[in-house]
Amino acid sequence: MKDGKFITMAFESSCDETSVAVLADGRQVLANVISSQIDIFRQYGGVVPEIASRHHLENINPVIDQAMEESGLSWEEIDLIGVTEGPGLVGALLVGVATAKAIAFARDIPLVGVHHILGHISANYIEYPDLKPPFLALVTSGGHTNIIAVDDYNRCRVLGGTRDDAVGEAYDKVARVLGLGYPGGPKMDRLAKEGNPDAIAFKRVYLEKDSYDFSFSGLKTAVLNYLNTEKQAGREVNKADVAASFQQAVMDVIVEKAVHAVMEQTQNGGRGEKKLVLAGGVASNSKLRAMLEEACSTRGIRLYRPSPVLCTDNGAMIGCAAYYKYRELGADSLDLDADPSLELPEERL
Ligand code: KG4
Ligand code: ZN
Repeated sequence: MKDGKFITMAFESSCDETSVAVLADGRQVLANVISSQIDIFRQYGGVVPEIASRHHLENINPVIDQAMEESGLSWEEIDLIGVTEGPGLVGALLVGVATAKAIAFARDIPLVGVHHILGHISANYIEYPDLKPPFLALVTSGGHTNIIAVDDYNRCRVLGGTRDDAVGEAYDKVARVLGLGYPGGPKMDRLAKEGNPDAIAFKRVYLEKDSYDFSFSGLKTAVLNYLNTEKQAGREVNKADVAASFQQAVMDVIVEKAVHAVMEQTQNGGRGEKKLVLAGGVASNSKLRAMLEEACSTRGIRLYRPSPVLCTDNGAMIGCAAYYKYRELGADSLDLDADPSLELPEERL
């Protein structure tokens, strides 16, 4: 405790960011140190799991030291340790989990494992101090595309998800075939601004009527086919037009489904304030933000969007989720293990 405030230290290492954060009372960020490996993986065109684990191992202690220094706290003041237990790359997750367990054991501090996606959603509690469940969350990241009814801090219902590629994954794959390099999402976002979103009529995939599921692999194949056809015909491809048209086809579907879900779904029995909360790396996308702002304002939906540093993988979001899990459900045991394919619990996040 520090000045009567409950202090959480949290670890995130599920992919290629090593991050350690320190929070007061769950929502106040005292430190959020993020060491990204993006520069290392640019040369490989994507994340190489073994190399990611090795870098997490090298980075974790310096990142802890920096977080402690920035927080200005001593180890005696830490009340809770939170850590991403999954999903993610197993070797990468293990570094965070082993470190968190070691500190929890050595200092006799309670330990809580966090689902990575609940962490992404919780980034909004930090950004918006007054935000409370219930609300509807749109989670768009490199590994997930979900519409989730968040009924309470530790209770949710997954209304829909992707049946194949996650949206960030689709962005990264299309970016690769366009030769844009890694990480593809932000580069596609920038390039699309220079292109015409109506240049190529890629099919919008809505699936069954009223379904909140997504499918992006067909769109990815359509982009590949378009590029091959143009190449064979000897025509020069306007990459900005391809990026803009792909992005429009993705976002038309995501925005329509998310807004429909807020209006239709029953989390408030049709009553209450309409709230849409964005989460995950793709929540930084400028087109998604602009389209949702417009769609939400015309329908009386309040839109919540974390700032870019809280959209990307970071320890602060994990610390916030850990705080609310610990308050309601108590600590996990030291048997906690990394689970690369941890399911999003439907009734209990
Ligand atoms: O949430 P995140 O940092 O990691 C996962 O949990 O997956 O999301 C990373 C994903 C990557 O696929 C990246 O290309 C994508 O988010 N991304 C974007 C943008 N910024 C990041 N996709 C589209 N537009 C962006 N501006
Ligand atoms: Zn993530």
